[in-house]
Parts: sequence; C-alpha cells; structure tokens
Amino acid sequence: MIKIAPSILSADFANLERDIQRIAAADYVHVDVMDGVFVPNISIGIPVVRSIRPVTALPLDVHLMITQPVRYVERFCDAGADLVTVHVEADSAENIHAAIENIHAKGKKAGVVLKPGTPAEAALPFLEKVELILVMTVEPGFGGQAFMADMMPKVAALRKLIDEKNPSCELEVDGGVAPDTCRACIDAGANVLVAGSAVYKAADIPARIEELRRG
Ligand code: DX5
Ligand code: ZN
Repeated sequence: MIKIAPSILSADFANLERDIQRIAAADYVHVDVMDGVFVPNISIGIPVVRSIRPVTALPLDVHLMITQPVRYVERFCDAGADLVTVHVEADSAENIHAAIENIHAKGKKAGVVLKPGTPAEAALPFLEKVELILVMTVEPGFGGQAFMADMMPKVAALRKLIDEKNPSCELEVDGGVAPDTCRACIDAGANVLVAGSAVYKAADIPARIEELRRG
C-alpha cells in the first residue's frame, strides 16, 4: 500500500494544529528540519516537534537537513519523532552509523536520505540497518520546486536493493510529488510519497491525499 506523508513545510505555521488536523487522512506527518548550514534555509526544530506530538495520532517522520545530525537525533526522538532520517552527506559514515544506533536505542525508526547528486550505492552501508530510505527528488531546502524525473532510475535501483537485502525497509521520495508525478514514483518502487505544496494548495486536502495514494 502506498503511504502519503504531507510536509508541514507548506502549512501555515500560525495555524499548525489546524493544518495538521487537515491531513488526518495521511499516513505520516513529514517534518522538515533545516539548519541554514546543510541547506540554505532555516525551518523548524525540536520545540515544534514537541508541540505537535500531542495534536496528532499520526507518526512523525522527521527529515533532518542538518549537518552532523548525530548531535541532535536523541533530542528529536525525545521530542516525539517516530522516524528520524539523516542525510548520508551530512557527516562521516561512522557518525551516520552512530546516529542510526542512537535513534534505535530510543526505540524509534531510522532512515537515511540521499540528495539528488548522491548515487544509490551510498545507501548500501546502511541498507540493512534502517527502516526507510528517502530519495530526494528536488535539491533539499525549499518546498514548491520542480520534480526531478531523472531520479526514477535511482529509486528503481534502490527498490531492487531493498527487495534483495531488507524487504521491510520503506522507500520514500520527497520533492515535487504531485498528481502528475506520483505515478512515476510508485512505478519506480517508492511506497511513501512526501508532498508539501501538492497537499496544502489543494482545495480538498483529503481528496488530494487519496489521489496521490492511488497514483
Ligand atoms: C525539501 C523538503 C520537502 C518539501 C517538499 O527540502 O524536504 O519535504 O517540503 O515540498 P514539495 O512537495 O512542495 O516539493
Ligand atoms: Zn522533506
């Protein structure tokens, strides 16, 4: 089954509780954390995760676009994250492994993220240790960018590797996912679709979530 993870980066932060209730038909709440160093933008952090935890029953999928995420993963887990994803480009392999272990030690799910320029093979050292791999289909940092269809071979390559080595691992795509691009992601093997603007700009949000889920 295809899961939908609306990104609250496109929500109205002055009405965040309302905008989280509006996505109750989804499967995850995708929380984009940016530090202004790993990406050229600053968004939200630990206090916001803590505040939204009690207002939704959905699992919180926290996408850390921060440098050296091992410094912070435990605090995001304590704040209420259910799944924490870290970029493989954000630190040494040793520290990425440590971040994954620290997330697991908190009883939470861990994932690794690949920027568009990072090859599928970069996930291999972590593939059997994570519950999710996230392939960026835009350069991380901003919502509302154009979908990079040329990432689909990478998604397909990772689907093959996941099926061989860790079949329960989820495969997520993030960036520019909309009604006209979701089918390509599903056909390439993704099972979790992040969508920010496509969900929050829709006149009927539950209908848009179902539309994306159906591909
Ligand atoms: C980009 C973020 C995405 C973003 C997606 O750095 O990781 O989650 O919110 O937004 P859309 O769906 O509008 O491309
Ligand atoms: Zn994201």
